[in-house]
Amino acid sequence: MKTLFMTATSLALGLAACQSPGTETQKPHTGIIKTPFGAVEGQPVELYTLTNSNGTAVSITTYGGIITAFRTKDKNDSVSSIVVGFDTITQYLQQPPYFGAIIGRYGNRIGNAAFSLDGKEYKLAANNGKNHLHGGLKGFDKQIWKAADVQDSVPTLILEYTSKDGEEGYPGNLQVKVTYALGDNDDLRITYDATTDKATPVNLTNHSYFNLTGDTRSTILDHRLQLKSSSYTPVDSGLIPTGEIRKVAGTPFDFSQAATVGSRMDQVPGGYDHNWVIDRKGKNLETVAILTDSVSGRLLEVQTTEPGIQFYAGNFLDGKFTNHTGTPVNLHTALCLETQHFPDSPNKKDFPTTILQPGEKYHTVTVYRVGRMAK
Ligand code: BGC
Repeated sequence: MKTLFMTATSLALGLAACQSPGTETQKPHTGIIKTPFGAVEGQPVELYTLTNSNGTAVSITTYGGIITAFRTKDKNDSVSSIVVGFDTITQYLQQPPYFGAIIGRYGNRIGNAAFSLDGKEYKLAANNGKNHLHGGLKGFDKQIWKAADVQDSVPTLILEYTSKDGEEGYPGNLQVKVTYALGDNDDLRITYDATTDKATPVNLTNHSYFNLTGDTRSTILDHRLQLKSSSYTPVDSGLIPTGEIRKVAGTPFDFSQAATVGSRMDQVPGGYDHNWVIDRKGKNLETVAILTDSVSGRLLEVQTTEPGIQFYAGNFLDGKFTNHTGTPVNLHTALCLETQHFPDSPNKKDFPTTILQPGEKYHTVTVYRVGRMAK
């Protein structure tokens, strides 16, 4: 596979080198390009850019498996990134709120930073008030991942990380593999695989912040969202699910028909930051969310095998960070659609289990496909 990688890289670089000025737009450089992306704690970090035949490009760094950019064409064929990100490692080290990162060992919150498993109590890092959020103080988003493999036919990057027994308080050595593949339908497929040597909760996701205009100058309040869901998990003041599964009908949580994000958010204290329960037909990949923006004409379709999706409307964004475009990432200028199992499942016996047992294989798939809205 190393050989394939060399081929892909040389091919991409070769194409770039051979092209005479002016021909670049005729044929995109498909494949994978690897570039240095600085260093973290003395260890080198790389950036891999996957480009498909449409010229759509996804850049992923080995630091946190972060998707730094997802560049697509808008309705005028102008290219910009639909996810918030930075061009250098420096800003990523200033603790942005998980921009584009792999989240683990547990996506979202675990109440009181504790859970019991097989009669034993486990204490986790309390990094969100008294609760545990997104895997703790040094979650998977802040680890350096190993680029284990790349493939060229469909530009693919495989990242691996071993989370040690006891890391952030979790039991068991967890071997994790995250595969990113960019198809020619502008579909980024992220596959999460894991195995463990002791029973442990696992809930992996990606924390990309989307603004389909490609620029955080405008908010996402006019984006239209549709969720394939008729219920959600209400939360307490610390954003921990109460355990209830409540119908969305007749509430501002009803996105079963497309609605603009901002139209009813004033009725939701703090804004949308909840887990919707997906109306699933089975265990296969299903379309669970569609987001559209009429300014750019872009559409984002989310497919997943997961039972839940966290729709977070960027309620805590405060302009501290500046996007690729040089514009601050202000309140509600980006939103997240994090496919997942429900928050606090290790403490909620009625929620679908997140416990991975030794000998079992954790395997989930989520696809982010970008298209154009029908005219
Ligand atoms: C959570 C938010 C949190 C954000 C950034 C989301 O997944 O639901 O409450 O503020 O991540 O940390």
